[in-house]
Parts: sequence; C-alpha cells; structure tokens
Amino acid sequence: MFAKKLISWYQQNKRDLPWRNTRNPYKIWLSEIILQQTRVEQGLPYYQKFVSAFPTINSLAEAKEDEVLKLWQGLGYYSRARNLHHAAKSVALTYKGVFPKIYEEVLALKGVGEYTAAAITSFAYLQPYPVLDGNVFRVISRIYGFHEAIDSGPGKKKFIEHLRTLIPHNDPATFNQAIMEFGAMHCLPKNPLCDNCIFNGTCYALQNNKIDLLPVKEKKLIKKNRHFYYKVSIDPKNRVLIQKRSEKDIWQGLYEFPYIESSTAIEQPLKDLELTQKEMLYFSEPKKHLLTHQNIYFSFYIAKTEACTKEQLWVSAAQLADYPVPKIIADFISKKLNLYLPRK
Ligand code: ADE
Repeated sequence: MFAKKLISWYQQNKRDLPWRNTRNPYKIWLSEIILQQTRVEQGLPYYQKFVSAFPTINSLAEAKEDEVLKLWQGLGYYSRARNLHHAAKSVALTYKGVFPKIYEEVLALKGVGEYTAAAITSFAYLQPYPVLDGNVFRVISRIYGFHEAIDSGPGKKKFIEHLRTLIPHNDPATFNQAIMEFGAMHCLPKNPLCDNCIFNGTCYALQNNKIDLLPVKEKKLIKKNRHFYYKVSIDPKNRVLIQKRSEKDIWQGLYEFPYIESSTAIEQPLKDLELTQKEMLYFSEPKKHLLTHQNIYFSFYIAKTEACTKEQLWVSAAQLADYPVPKIIADFISKKLNLYLPRK
C-alpha cells in the first residue's frame, strides 16, 4: 500500500532528470556521486559536462587526474572526484570496462558506499536493494515514527530492514526514485507540505506533532577552525607561484598558492609570510568559507618577487586557468588576481 501510493505520487510529481531516462550504470553512478555532493539544480550542469567530456567509463579511466578535478571544480569534497577516477580505472582494468552487476562488486568500488551501490543496482539492473539517504531517513522516520538515531549502526539497520519489507520486487527502481523524490520535494526538512500530503491520514509525526523532532540524530557536529594566509608571488615575467596539495587533507590534488596555516588568527601575517609592506601589492581581509566539518578563514597577500627556485611551479595567467583549484582560489583569481596579471 505504501509503495503503491508513493509511486502514484511520483508518477504525477516527478522531475524529468537525465539520469532517470537511462539504464546505463556508468551514467547513473556518475549522477549519484555528483548528487551526494550537491543539489539537483547545481549538479545538472556538472553531470552534463562529465557525460560530454567522458561519454564512457573507459574515457574517464583514461583521463588525467587534473582534467577530472578541473571538471569537478566548485563542487567541493574533491576526494569524491579522485575516487570516481580511481573506480573508473579499476572497472576498466578488472572488468574490461563493463560495469559490474553484482551488488558486492559495485560496493567494492572506491567511493561507492551502501547507498550508491543500492542506487546503481536498482536503477540500472532493477535489483531490489533499497536506498537509504537523508531524504529516505526523513520520510520513513516521520511516517512510521522511528526514533532510532539515523547516524547509529542499530538505527540504520532498523530503517533498512523496514525498507526491505516495503520495496516492491517488481519495480524497485521506481520505488527508490520515488521515495527520494518525495523527501526532496514534499516531506521537506523544514515546513513539509503536510496539508496536501498523501500520507497525512497515517503519518506518525504529523499526528503526534513531532515533525521537527524527526529524524533523530545522535552526534553533534564539531567543527574545526583553520586560518589560511596565502602568499601570491608574482615574478618579473608576470608568472605566479603555485603548488600542488599532496597531503591527505581537504583539496588533495588541487593547486594553490603557498600559504601558512594556523588554528587561530595570526596577528602579524606579513611577518610569518616573510613579506614587507613595500613588496605588497594587495591584501584581502579574512573571509570565511564553511565546509561540513571545518570553518576555513582565508586571506590573500599579493607581492612582487624576484625569487625563482627551480623545483617550484611558476605559471602564466593563461596557464593558471587550466589548473584545478579550490573554489576560494578560483574566485580570488577571477575577481582580484587577474587585475595584477596582464595578459598579452
Ligand atoms: N539525489 C540522489 N539521487 C537522486 C536521483 N536519482 N534523483 C534526484 N535526486 C537525487
């Protein structure tokens, strides 16, 4: 009954999205990884860009990491893009470019968790694995009154076991799309549309006035503060010094300007950056960039310099545009740095 009502709502209310009109597991996988990172509206152009740059999993496998990161630029959480690339290479190698069909094999791909494996195997191969994402947790916890914490092992188990009893084996793909769409469009986190909801006769949360209390989360997010001071050196040939982030940290594999980092604000950044007022062309007041687990405070100091040590990477303004960089750096380059870098 639940599935029937839900699917009928979906047929009348669904958005027409390109990954819903394909059974190609590569395209479905790509869309799911992008949609874990962002909302549908922002994800759509990225999906289109990836599909046209890399129409097949083999073409993605053959790409350079820099190209993949450049296409991902702006989405954040760059390990998703690196894992995507890594998994494409292993499908090319292990399965000769044919996407695996067995749930456990899909789950074993880098960056593919239980949610993504269920999405791929149900949408592409019509296997009855229920998806469980934030939308699904919300819908189920409210309608059925589940109070178990959604970020706990036993909580997840309870939800997934219940979903196994709800998912119709003759149409698991539509059920999975429908329950996520219902969470995204109707059973909203704030101000859900209960007045014209198909479940308002039976919804536990609505009847018990607990809409804002469900779903339940166990852990509070603790955020770390990081302060970045970027030193943007311009040499006499109008080249800029950049470096690649290689540490296992945010933005791994992306390019940036050399910088100093501190867990608190630095009082005299010029001194620590080994810069004098005279050399400086520009500096920005610190701005805030919020990531899921970290608050990044960042500022830029542009300075003329002579130094040119050989192992470092000096690039022209035109070359700089081809390197994948974090969004805060891309914004700085387009809004500020380009004013100081004449292009011939
Ligand atoms: N979010 C995650 N997967 C999705 C899908 N297949 N369609 C729309 N939104 C989604």
